[in-house]
Amino acid sequence: MNERLLLGVSGSIAAYKAPLILRKLTEQGFSVPVVLTRAASRFIGRVTFESLTKEGVYDNLWARRQALSHISLLDGTRLVLVAPATANIIAKAASGIADDLLSSILLAADPGKVLFAPAMNQGMWENPATQENVNRLKKRGANFVEPGFGKLACGVTGEGRLAEPDEIALAAERLARAHPVLADKRIVVTAGRTEEEIDPVRVITNRSSGRMGTELAKAFARRGAEVTLVAGEISVPLPCGVNVIRVRSAIEMLAELTAILPSTDALLMAAAIADYTPVQSASSKLKDKDLSIKITRTPDVLGALPDSSAVLIGFSVETEPDWTKTASEKLSAKNLDAIVANPATVIGGEQTEAEIIFTSGKRMRCTSVAKEVLATKLVEVVAELLADKEPHA
Ligand SMILES: Cc1cc2nc3c(=O)[nH]c(=O)nc-3n(C[C@H](O)[C@H](O)[C@H](O)COP(=O)(O)O)c2cc1C
Repeated sequence: MNERLLLGVSGSIAAYKAPLILRKLTEQGFSVPVVLTRAASRFIGRVTFESLTKEGVYDNLWARRQALSHISLLDGTRLVLVAPATANIIAKAASGIADDLLSSILLAADPGKVLFAPAMNQGMWENPATQENVNRLKKRGANFVEPGFGKLACGVTGEGRLAEPDEIALAAERLARAHPVLADKRIVVTAGRTEEEIDPVRVITNRSSGRMGTELAKAFARRGAEVTLVAGEISVPLPCGVNVIRVRSAIEMLAELTAILPSTDALLMAAAIADYTPVQSASSKLKDKDLSIKITRTPDVLGALPDSSAVLIGFSVETEPDWTKTASEKLSAKNLDAIVANPATVIGGEQTEAEIIFTSGKRMRCTSVAKEVLATKLVEVVAELLADKEPHA
């Protein structure tokens, strides 16, 4: 059964974005009943929400059909998301006022299982009354997706703009699906292809799209981890809700990883680092007379990283019929906790084939799966490896 997440919509002009948030949440696999305030119903009709959820739309504390629903709606609910949250609903929640269905639900809910996404005019947001209300709610454990800076519906530019629907849906999922081991763990994922400069217009690189790394970053972020994506060139969109460090060359990748490794709990090396680099990059565009380029090996990034207690997962791509052979050799040579072997055919595609090889000798084969599915599997693999490393009470 899908996890239940309740979406409360209050009367902000940004209520027109609530159906987008609802759609994202249902796409993420949540069952989502919707509760509208009376003011929200003036901005957007319930039919829109009814078309997007199978769980019902509620707007009346007193309707016979909906009686007691402020308590029963919370049964089995992992999170109450209020998006958009008006200054008014925030004030009511902070003061314990329960004079309609949504405010009654908020009073009955565990504050730690509530997420507010405020949206209002800058004056309303900056007003000490609102700020005090927000701080009171935060002290009780409530969560917020901070509003952004931008053009507001009233015409001025300032703070108070509803965060992006993607960001809100991710923040909700992080709370509702927080992994007991991974929540707040610092996970570093590398993605994409590095580039080695030949001259100002040419590079040595490879065909990696960055999809595996970005899917991994998303999968860890969704389970509540603090994710840093160290990305070379990629051909897919960067995920939201993760810290991104952009690098170009293997040397830059090594420098960034060396700096963050001491504060990393797990590192997954999904990037395809160029193996060769010109001995010297030319300062001007090479001409026909310069037909040979002297190349050398790029640094072995995993081999050159300082010792650390982080869980280390390597990736290996080969063209040979037995594409797992080199991977097992690399596993021990590079002191990894596990390695993901792939055939070269998966580069650039949406589907993948992989064998996860562990130091114990255990192997897990995944055949013709979406990279997103392999990413979810690797999240569980890393969680188990981290749990094994944690001191037991
Ligand atoms: C056109 C219009 C736009 C509004 N936009 C906002 C808004 O973005 N944020 C907000 O806090 N209040 C806004 N309000 C005021 C709220 O609708 C009002 O405070 C209402 O009582 C909120 O009720 P609720 O919190 O029960 O939904 C707006 C009002 C109008 C008429």
